[in-house]
Amino acid sequence: HITIKSICCIGAGYVGGPTCAVIAYKNPHIKVTIVDLNAARIAAWNSDELPIYEPGLDDVVKSTRGKNLFFSTDVDGGILEADLIFVSVNTPTKIKGVGAGFAADLGYVESATRKIAEVAKSDKIVVEKSTVPCRTAQSMRYILEANAKPDIHFDILSNPEFLAEGTAISDLFYPDRVLIGSLDTERGRSAAASLADVYAGWVTRDQIITMNLWSSELSKLAANALLAQRISSINALSAICEATGADIDEVSYACGLDSRIGPKFLKASVGFGGSCFQKDILNLVYLSESLHLPEVAAYWKQVVEMNEYQKRRFTNRVISSLFNTLTAKKIAIFGFAFKKDTGDTRESPAITLVNYFREEKAYISIYDPKVEESQVWMDLTEPGVVDETEAVKKQVSIAADPYEAAAGADAIVICTEWNDFKETVLDYEKIYASMKKPAFIFDGRLILDAKKVSQIGFKVETIGRPRTTFVQSKDFE
Ligand code: NAD
Ligand code: UDX
Repeated sequence: HITIKSICCIGAGYVGGPTCAVIAYKNPHIKVTIVDLNAARIAAWNSDELPIYEPGLDDVVKSTRGKNLFFSTDVDGGILEADLIFVSVNTPTKIKGVGAGFAADLGYVESATRKIAEVAKSDKIVVEKSTVPCRTAQSMRYILEANAKPDIHFDILSNPEFLAEGTAISDLFYPDRVLIGSLDTERGRSAAASLADVYAGWVTRDQIITMNLWSSELSKLAANALLAQRISSINALSAICEATGADIDEVSYACGLDSRIGPKFLKASVGFGGSCFQKDILNLVYLSESLHLPEVAAYWKQVVEMNEYQKRRFTNRVISSLFNTLTAKKIAIFGFAFKKDTGDTRESPAITLVNYFREEKAYISIYDPKVEESQVWMDLTEPGVVDETEAVKKQVSIAADPYEAAAGADAIVICTEWNDFKETVLDYEKIYASMKKPAFIFDGRLILDAKKVSQIGFKVETIGRPRTTFVQSKDFE
């Protein structure tokens, strides 16, 4: 098999950027060029302010950039030079047409693939890094072969990425496994061996597993579906806890000690967010339906439905606790990112909650340590001809710190589990003094010591724990 000397990554996003920066860092002898059509994003990668926040990423990029790591808008140049090309473009849920709301939009994957076929003047190993429906590699192969110049060969591999945002660098440095799918042919196995050598720069061989293309593609959807299913399961149980007096943290601890279950991904929350879980499950639902497996589709769909229910349920708890009306009340939102240690807001539960609160005519003040202000306005408006930002600003403001967000508020709603919000970090006495009374905290992430903050005077309502405050009408919930 060939030894890879030059890699191109198409797509400088949350996956392409960190993944290929780490590949460059761990393989100083390989030249890595990350290309993207988005010139602003590439400019940011080449600046001191990287386009994404990820602990440890700055150090990796700064020690390799300009040496063996390059960011460029020259997609053709990157393709021409590379032995191996990662396709790491976005695969969002389709919003129109066949499969709208479920199927993945493979338009970006296809156009990147066509570009490779058009530009390449030598053999290439093409690696599907984006998360795609099962059998996409097959389509990519058809496109490449149908458009290839004579005597040029393409080998297709699937190499799904398992990093999670907020911990991307440590996930990449110490992966549980690296998965490579290939055709079961001599050429396929040889291409897989070339890619395995790249990862062997820092990952032990027994953690690099190979299998057939379709298993590899499906494993990625399966892993995300299983992870999200655990969260929806624990969130479903959190509703039972709230109604009975059980405590979800205790239930999850007790269950997690069973070595067959394990403790991870059992943290109840206001709902899971992020660009992957919902999209990938809907993708699996669509795949199941296309394969005429309606029971399988319904099973996975319920994971997403439970997540929607959790957000609605939590909102209802806020409304009923605040005496059944939010009209003209001020709600402080602590955290807008979909999880801590990232500035990413894609599918963040905070967006849904803010929209619900707006419908109830509340005033909302948002604080997040990493989310850009412009991003909040984009998330709270529908893309369209009319810019709705000014209308949204009548009800929503962005605070420079948590104290400003909470000043004069009736309630704090914790949407993201940033360490910054813990009672050991924030001065909740100061916050309490500045709020309307009774002052409520709704902890959607189980990060506060409820006893301590209630001693200050707060009425604390925690997800997965029974209600502690007055409720006017049970019917409302
Ligand atoms: P992203 O939107 O952050 O980045 C994708 C980039 O690709 C964008 O910058 C876009 O401009 C660029 N692009 C699109 N078409 C292009 C083309 N034809 N030529 C050049 N550039 C092009 O997306 P992401 O979060 O990095 O996700 C990428 C893929 O990885 C998705 O399939 C996603 O499901 C998967 N994934 C994401 C994560 C995650 O945590 N975000 C984890 C694992 C897998
Ligand atoms: C996920 C997968 O974990 C990762 O392997 C895949 O490559 C991409 O999708 P990501 O979405 O970045 O990663 O973050 P993750 O840590 O999985 O969290 C997703 C959402 O679930 C977040 O909103 C998080 O707050 C929530 N979550 C996670 C819970 O509510 N409870 C938990 O126990 C764990």
